[in-house]
Amino acid sequence: MDIKSAEFVVSNSDVAKCPKALIPEYAFIGRSNVGKSSLINMLTNKKSLAKTSGKPGKTQLINHFLINKNWHLVDLPGYGYARVSKSSKKTFQKFITQYFGLREQLVSAFVLVDIRHEPQTIDLEFMQWLVENGVPFSIIFTKADKLKPKAIDNHIEAYKTIMLETWEDMPTYFITSATNDIGKDAVLNYIDGLNGNMKLN
Ligand code: GTP
Ligand code: MG
Repeated sequence: MDIKSAEFVVSNSDVAKCPKALIPEYAFIGRSNVGKSSLINMLTNKKSLAKTSGKPGKTQLINHFLINKNWHLVDLPGYGYARVSKSSKKTFQKFITQYFGLREQLVSAFVLVDIRHEPQTIDLEFMQWLVENGVPFSIIFTKADKLKPKAIDNHIEAYKTIMLETWEDMPTYFITSATNDIGKDAVLNYIDGLNGNMKLN
């Protein structure tokens, strides 16, 4: 799929105020600093569409971006950032629960995972929560430019092993890098296919 246009629409802390249009929506979620905002910029060929930072906790709101005038990409705040207060953790949990509970437009979530790390409990628990709440998701491994191909394979195998202990199948997954466009076509074509299934594209 070619990206012909990508525009910022709105930031919200209240899910009820998110755009009402019934068009397909895809949400990027994952630990703080995993590269959610950077990946949105890479996919849309716009360096500063979503705000990125070397410091975790940059994205604090639900950000909607309108792509090709007919579907939304959503940049969400990260989880698992140790240095936020208890009250902001609670606020985060509340609006993430509401977001996934209320957005009927959501076709699929993408859970972003830093390819450099061993499987992390916080990510596995979050994915389990999505399963229990009936939210479809795929995994996007980020920062693949930081590892050699062999190390990438080893890390994917570690994920498969741990996931197949609990689930029958490994979720669909993508290997990406926001710095060198690895995985760009795969992710965009996957979304294109899902949009096609929604008969809206
Ligand atoms: P929060 O909004 O804080 O939850 O973070 P985020 O997940 O949106 O991460 P963000 O895109 O802001 O990126 C965090 C840091 O990782 C930045 O310094 C990025 O430049 C860096 N980064 C993101 N993606 C990649 C990548 O694919 N490769 C490399 N090498 N660095 C990356
Ligand atoms: Mg961000």
